[in-house]
Formats: sequence, C-alpha cells, structure tokens
Amino acid sequence: MTEQSGTGCPVHGRGGGCPVSPRAASFDPFAESFLADPAAALEWSRNEEPVFFSPELGYWVVTRYEDVKAVFRDNVTFSPSIALERVVPPSEEAMATLKRYDYAMNRTLVNEDEPAHMERRRALMAHFLPENLAAKEDMIRRLTREKVDAFVDSGRVDLVEAMLWEIPLTVALHFLGVPKEDMDALKEFSVAHTVNTWGRPSPEQQLKVADAVGRFWQYAGRVLDKMRAEPDGEGWMHFAIRKNAEMPEVVTDSYLHSMMMAIIVAGHETTSLASANAVKLLLSNPLVWERICKDPALIPNAVEECLRLEGSQMAWRRKATRDTEIAGVVIPKDAKLLIVSASANHDPRHFENGDLFDIYRDSAVEHLTFGYGSHQCMGKNFARLEMRIFIEELSRRLPHMRLVEGQTFTYLPNLAFRGPQRLLVEWDPAQNPERSDPALAGRTVSFPVGAPSSKEIARSMRVAEIGDAARGVKLIRLEDPDGLPLPAWTPGAHIDLLVGDFSRKYSLCGSPSDPGYTIAVLREQDGRGGSRFIHETLKPGTMVRIRGPKNYFRLEEQAPRHILIAGGIGITPILAMADRLKALGRDYVLHYCGRARETMAFLDRVARDHGAHTVLHVSSEGGRADLETIVKGWSPDTRIHACGPERLLDQLGLLCGDLPEGSYKCEAFTTGLDGMVHADDTAFEVDLADSELTLTVPAGRTLLETVRAAGIDVPSDCEEGLCGSCEVGVLDGAIDHRDKVLSAAERAEGKRMMACCSRAAGKKLRLAL
Ligand code: FES
Repeated sequence: MTEQSGTGCPVHGRGGGCPVSPRAASFDPFAESFLADPAAALEWSRNEEPVFFSPELGYWVVTRYEDVKAVFRDNVTFSPSIALERVVPPSEEAMATLKRYDYAMNRTLVNEDEPAHMERRRALMAHFLPENLAAKEDMIRRLTREKVDAFVDSGRVDLVEAMLWEIPLTVALHFLGVPKEDMDALKEFSVAHTVNTWGRPSPEQQLKVADAVGRFWQYAGRVLDKMRAEPDGEGWMHFAIRKNAEMPEVVTDSYLHSMMMAIIVAGHETTSLASANAVKLLLSNPLVWERICKDPALIPNAVEECLRLEGSQMAWRRKATRDTEIAGVVIPKDAKLLIVSASANHDPRHFENGDLFDIYRDSAVEHLTFGYGSHQCMGKNFARLEMRIFIEELSRRLPHMRLVEGQTFTYLPNLAFRGPQRLLVEWDPAQNPERSDPALAGRTVSFPVGAPSSKEIARSMRVAEIGDAARGVKLIRLEDPDGLPLPAWTPGAHIDLLVGDFSRKYSLCGSPSDPGYTIAVLREQDGRGGSRFIHETLKPGTMVRIRGPKNYFRLEEQAPRHILIAGGIGITPILAMADRLKALGRDYVLHYCGRARETMAFLDRVARDHGAHTVLHVSSEGGRADLETIVKGWSPDTRIHACGPERLLDQLGLLCGDLPEGSYKCEAFTTGLDGMVHADDTAFEVDLADSELTLTVPAGRTLLETVRAAGIDVPSDCEEGLCGSCEVGVLDGAIDHRDKVLSAAERAEGKRMMACCSRAAGKKLRLAL
C-alpha cells in the first residue's frame, strides 16, 4: 500500500468530481487472477476507463493501444527514468543489506533520458542489427538440439527447466561475452532482480532479495573486471568496454556496471518467458500446433502473434515531466504511469478480433511487447530468432507433444515480466517421427532475421463451393480445411487470393456470419491471366492460399444517409455494405451500373434484399448512370462509397473533389505504378524522430526497405501504395506521393506518407518513426 492509497484522485481530489472508480480502486496487478490473463483483467478499462488512477499502486494505468504507443513515442513528456524504480520502496534493513554490497545501480539503456540515451544506444547498437544476428543461428540451433536430444525419449518434461530457461541464458552470456560459470546463481539473481525491481516482496522477502541482488551486483562487478583484463575479448560487453575507452563520457564506468547486471537479466529472461508463453499458447490450440508442424513457414508470424497475445513484457513505467493529458485525462507533472502493453496488444480498436489467436494475422508485428520508438527492445530480433528455432525444432521432432492436463500455471508476481514458471508437456516416445526417419532430427528450416514480411503470411483454404453469379462471374466459397475459426470481417473487407503465380484482391461478399469467405471473380479476358486461371482451374476441394481479410474500405456506418455506387464487379463490397446499412436501418440508395443484365452479378439478390433502395443503370438498355446527378444528392450527413472500374472512380473523384474530407470513399485495386522505385529516383535523407536515427534512402531502394534494414519495424501489406498499412507520420519536408490511399487534402496537408512507394520531393524528410 502506498501513501497515495484511498479512493481520491491525486489530481482532482474527492471534491473535484473525479473519484477513483471502484474497479480502478480494486486494480491489483500482483493478483493471481491478473497474472493469469492481464488482457482479460483489463478489458473493462479498455472499454470504459482507458486511463485510470490506481490508488493501491500510486500509478496512472494506461490500457489502450494508441495511448500506450503515444506514451512510448514521447519519451520527453513521459520519461523512462522510473522504469527500474522499485515498486515497493525498500525497508531500512533491505537498504542496509544493499549498502553492504556497495549496490549502486545506475541508469541503463531502459531508464535513461535523452540526450544521453540515444547517444549510448547509437554507440552500442551495431551488434543487434539484423545482419549481425544471423551468425548466431547455428549456435542457438546446436544448443536447442542438445537439449531436445536429452529429453526426446523421455515422454514427459518441464520445458522451462529442460530448455527454455537455460538456452536463452547461455545465448545471452555468449552474446555478451560473459563466462558461463555460475549459471544456477544467475537464475537466483535474475529472479531476485525481478522481484526487487518490479515485485511486491514482503518485509522478510525484501531482506532475502536484497541479499541476492547485492551478490548479483558484486558478481557483475567481478565479471566486468575480468573482462576489462581481456581487451580483445569478443561479445557485446567487450565491445561496450572498448567504447568506454573510446568515448568515456558517453559510455561511462558506472553505466557499464549497471548495464552488466541489467542486461544479463534482460538478455535472457524476456526470451525465456516469451518462449514458454508461446509454446503454451500453441499447444493450447492443437489445430494451430498441427498446422505449424505441417508448415514451418508459418512459424515466424506465429511467434509474432504469440508475442502479441501473450508477450513476456506486460508493462513499462514512465513519469510525466510536465502537466499533460492522455486520452483527455489530465496527468499532472511527476505522475507515474504504468503503460500496459499486455492490454494494448488485445485492443480491438487497433487489432480486429483482438482476442482471437490468428497466426495468419498480418498486423501481429505491430504488437507493443518490444515497446516502441527510441526505447524499443534492442534484442527483439534476437528473441525472435531464438523463439523461431525453439518452435521449429520442437514441432519437427515432437509434433505429438501436448500439455499435461490438469497442471496449474503459476507466474512470478511482478509488474513487468510474465511467463509460466513450469510448462509440463508429454508425448509417446514410440511415436517420435525420428524413430522411423532418423534424418529428421537434423533437418533445418531457417528464417530470415527480423520481423516477418506480410508477403509470407498466407492461410490455406479449401474451395467449398463454386457457382455462377452472372455470365463470366464465378461465386467461390472458401473454408478452413480443419474448421479453424476464421477472423470476422466487416463490409468493405477483401482477401488476397494466391493461386499459381498470381495474387489478386477480391472483396468479401457473403454474410459476415458465414463460417467461410465468399468472393465473386469476374473473368477478365484481357487481364493479366489471374481470373482466367481461377475460372479454369479451381474446383470444389482445390486448396488455395489467401491473405487477409483486411479492410481498407471501411463503411462509415454511423452516418444517417448513404449513397452506394457499384460499377460491374464492384458490386461485391458494395453489396456487403448495403446489407449492413439495411440491418442498421440507415437511409441508403444503391446505384448499380453495368453493361448488360446478364453480366451483372447478384442482380436477383440485389432486387430481393435491396429492391426499394436500388437504382439500376444498365447501359445496354440506355440506362447509363448520370454520376453528376447522383453526386448532387449528397448532403452534409451523407457518405458516398464507390467501387468499380478506374474510369468510373476517376470521374467520381473529380465530382467529389470539393466535398468535405471523408464524404467520399472509393476502392481502387491497382495503382498503375510500374514498380515502387523509378529509374530517375534520387537518394534522400530521413530523420527518424522517435528512434533518433538519420538514414539515407538510396535511389533504387524504398523508404520501407531502408528503415527495416535499420531494425525499425514498419508494417506493410500490398507494398504497392494501395492499402495504407505502411503509413508513416511526416513532421517536416516535402513528399512525392505515389500511393492511391491518401486524398488530395491529405496529400496537401503533408503529414503522412506511404513508406512502400512515396519518397521525398526534396533532399530530406523528418518522420515520426
Ligand atoms: Fe500498402 Fe504501402 S504497404 S500502401
């Protein structure tokens, strides 16, 4: 209990009309029920009170995605200085114990303010870049195989004890260049450091913990001295020691000692816990586990989805350096914040179907488990590499492994890290596939270092039914072959259908409550061949791969009046929108334009379900649409949505050009761009304000490729300027926009750009990245 206990808000007081709500007052992040499922425990907050004061903790708690990210992003207003502060102030006896060991933990990379932080980070980050991590793969794999060899015939094991704790620690020590003696002591030290910093130890525990932390501090000092005596030693700490000699004012002595202690913990504990969370989550979903066993290419994104849904880093702490606001809530200077990424990662405002475990989710990489901005975890790609190898080795050698039923999962009570302390699994060794195929144990599937590309994420689906929606239009229903639940979709959403060498976007046009996805495919005789291929080769039972669903053409359903305009096969998203508007009881009119009735898909259904709201414009019957008159039907409470051929959309774009922002939305399926870089492109510089880096984007390379090579994760999907998923904020500089996402007004505003295709119009851009 802190001195701020009670039920009043520390800013406004009880008389200020701002009492702490009952749920905020009972918030307890150390409770077993919270640790079992922090996202579920904070669902009420995400829905009702996304920023609240916890009197029990003395912290403001932030739970929604955009708010947590905004706090991470602004590390000046929200200082990380308290990231390693003890949640429970130590007792006098504990302080005396620490003093006996000369304990003097100072700032490290995670709790430093600017400008010192970025100066050090820049000086020390080279070892963490993707190109320098790939060389670690062989070592991680060797260690993993040794461990799996040791238990593969046993039939039952605690994976945490047998491998998931020790391998990350061994790898971390190797990376740091720290000798591997004292592994058991390091386990005790790590737990003590976690409890000391982020836990709520009782007075008796405090003394024990303080003693272990003191010994850890001295151990770190001894190792550091030993390493200083080997000036040519390998590993990141040796590198840091050399930097200390080169730039003593940037990489200081006290920094090295503190960092040595902190990074031994940070370097392995988060990976260890995240791996245990991931294996637990995968085995709790046997159909998903089975699929990964069959198709290891799914592992990188499955790891990302595990990090999103059950990451090992639950929350970080920040301190307000001035009076400010988060989501409209006044935060006073010096207020302490608990920003809960474990809650943000489930926020449905950012992640559609946020609680669904979907290893095909292409936005999984946007999770905040690694933090964001200039304090984002430097070891994130190391963690990814290890987790992928663990899961690949286990799924290949023990695909029949399952969780031991009835076990209770326990978690160390603390504010920061979360992962099961034991993870009991079992299997029948007689069924081990390597008994009949000994070569299997040595097979290897490697993955590129870094965040998975959405291009590699595809869901296998079976064609369930094929029918005719009109002349030349096939109606295709797809279903998951194993009955895995599919993500829900909303009107305007599409999937990418991958067949043969083709990837084509098709809007979903069935009912969102159907268990499968339905698309309508027009055979385009003069197209690039994709639709012909689909018409000629797909049969019921054929397996295809899809990406999505994604929605870049959202229906503004809150508006009271709507004009829907469909040209030809553009009826597919428009029909789903009309269904939704009808269900909501909105005022809408559907203009459906086509060349001839027999080529217009869903005519019967349109007549049946939307007859009174529909105006047909059939050219062969002299009914060509008068778009100018249609657009004149707009009023300030109306939204216009259109989908159809480029000519129709171009004309509508001109006619709607003067309407207020947001009045008109359309969906284009091609940019007309030939490649994302052009022969006459020139190099330009980008200042990344959040990451405090300056990069050069050379001619022949996109901005997206350049920032990713620097270890900055930017999501992407289409990579051709159509979807908007690679949008980055622009703080300064002129932009050469090449996308089909932004409106004329948004372009003129110059505040955002698509990193996959757009470039600087001048020599430099400053970006909010
Ligand atoms: Fe789709 Fe850039 S990735 S617009």
